[in-house]
Parts: sequence; C-alpha cells; structure tokens
Amino acid sequence: MSSITAAPTGASSSHYPEGLARDAGTAPTGLPAAPAIRLSAARVLFEGTALFDGLTLVLPAGRTTCLLGPSGVGKTSLLRMIAGLLAPEDGTVLTTSDGQALTGRIAYMAQTDLLLPWLDVLGNATLGPRLRGDAAARAQARQRATALLQDVGLGDRLTARPDALSGGMRQRVALVRTLVEDRPVVLMDEPFGALDAISRLQLQDLAARLLVGRTVLLVTHDPLEAARLGHRIHVMAGAPATLDTAWEPQGAVPRAATDPGVLATQAELLRRLADATAGGAS
Ligand SMILES: Nc1ncnc2c1ncn2[C@@H]1O[C@H](COP(=O)(O)OP(=O)(O)OP(=O)(O)O)[C@@H](O)[C@H]1O
Ligand SMILES: [Mg+2]
Repeated sequence: MSSITAAPTGASSSHYPEGLARDAGTAPTGLPAAPAIRLSAARVLFEGTALFDGLTLVLPAGRTTCLLGPSGVGKTSLLRMIAGLLAPEDGTVLTTSDGQALTGRIAYMAQTDLLLPWLDVLGNATLGPRLRGDAAARAQARQRATALLQDVGLGDRLTARPDALSGGMRQRVALVRTLVEDRPVVLMDEPFGALDAISRLQLQDLAARLLVGRTVLLVTHDPLEAARLGHRIHVMAGAPATLDTAWEPQGAVPRAATDPGVLATQAELLRRLADATAGGAS
C-alpha cells in the first residue's frame, strides 16, 4: 500500500473542466478558493481483489458532484481515499487545480454519524475546533453551530446527549458538524439518508445554500437528491468499479423536486442504476 501521490505543482488546468454554469448563489466571503480535484488511475485492493483499478474522477471547483451506485460497489471507499483515510495502491494520483495538498481543507461527513456519546449536541457539533484546541475558533464555531442547529430543527436540543436523539436527529447533528467546519472541500456520505421525505428536502435546500462555492462530493442512494443537488452526477458500477460518463443537469441548485427536468434526470438515473445493478456502468 502507498499513499496517494499528492498534488504536483503546475498541474495542467485542462484537467479541470470549467464548463458548468454558475449558480445564482455566491460563496461566503473569507472562504478560501475551492480547488478542482482530479483522481486518476485509482487502485484499491481488499484481500487481493481490486475494488477499483484505473478509476478516474474529476470534481470541478466550487461544484457538487453526486455519486450513486449499488450497495457495496465502493462509494464510501472512494470518499475515504480522497479524505486520506484509505491508502490506495501505488500509481494512484490525486491532484488539485491549485497545486496545494488537500490536508486541512476537507470536511468529511461519514456514513455513520460518529457522535461522541459523552458530548451533548452542541459539543458534538463543534467537535472539530474543540479537538484542535483553538479557543477563538471554538467560540466562533459555537455561534455558527447554534444558528445551524436552529435551522435544522434542533434549537431546543442543544444540551441533549446523542442517545436521547432519533437517527434523523443524530444525522442532523453530524450534518451541522460538517458544515461548521467551513472548509472549501466537503465530502458527504449519504448525509440525508436517515431523514423523512420532507426534512430531507428541507435539509437539501439548507445544505445547497451553505455549500455554494465549495467543491463537494456527495454520495447518495436517492436519485431525486442527486437530481436536485448535483452539478455533475456519476453512477458507479462493476467489479472492479468504474464510473459512467458524468450526467450534467441544467439549472441552478437546489432544483425544485417537481421541476420536469429534475424528474427526467431522476428517471435517467434510475435507468442507469438498474443497468449498474444488472451488470456494470453504462
Ligand atoms: N477496510 C476494509 N477491508 C476489507 N474490505 C473492505 C474494507 N472497506 C470496505 N471493504 C469492502 O469493499 C466493498 C465496498 O465497500 P464500500 O463501503 O466502499 O461500499 P459502498 O458503495 O459505500 O456501499 P453502501 O452503499 O452499502 O454504503 C465492500 O465489499 C466492503 O466489504
Ligand atoms: Mg457506503
């Protein structure tokens, strides 16, 4: 095993497409510019079997890329590799459009909420600055987290412990914790999977507003979610897994769930997922 070959300086900008329409929203002032990210020749083996071999993924700068695919195909592993939590094989190359390493620039929301049982909701939501021991950042994070917890409907549960929360509430805390980090690159693994249909739509809207200007990779099993939030959408399939040609829906995000274009994208994604489940990426 080896670590990913990090960002060579002077990486060609032609590796990083800019052809996607800008949204109406603007990135928050003070947010460091979000880089495009390119992963190529990605290779991961588990017990001698390749999960990926030669996989390429481009995340355009300041855009949300959604990733769908059958259970067990390797979506979480791909996210963990980009987050630096899973070491790939030699030959895997990760570059950024600004030539800088991703260390310290990523907020990662794992598939399981990873809440600490001995911390209350506010403590969990501000875990990052708390662990880093930065008092000023922590005070700022508490303010931001309190407002966000209000936005996600947990304003009256700031002092609750995780074991007193429902699965959907816990997921909302984990979402707030990720957004409080305020990083230019955000990796999210099924961030809304435990929510009821209406809360899911509401939190997709909130997340879309807070993710403007960031480079986002969002894993989901929900084609409607991808159709609402994705500037770019991939379906992952096969063993070793590959990605299909990116689907790039029109229109600013978040798109309305009732928008005919969204419904058409959803239908196309369902078709691709059915193919993926039957065989491989189309
Ligand atoms: N650390 C590990 N050691 C061995 N095998 C692993 C490890 N991590 C993942 N795998 C295997 O790799 C495959 C892909 O797992 P992964 O969690 O990436 O899938 P996924 O697409 O995220 O699935 P789901 O949609 O169910 O979350 C699975 O067969 C899993 O058992
Ligand atoms: Mg997963």
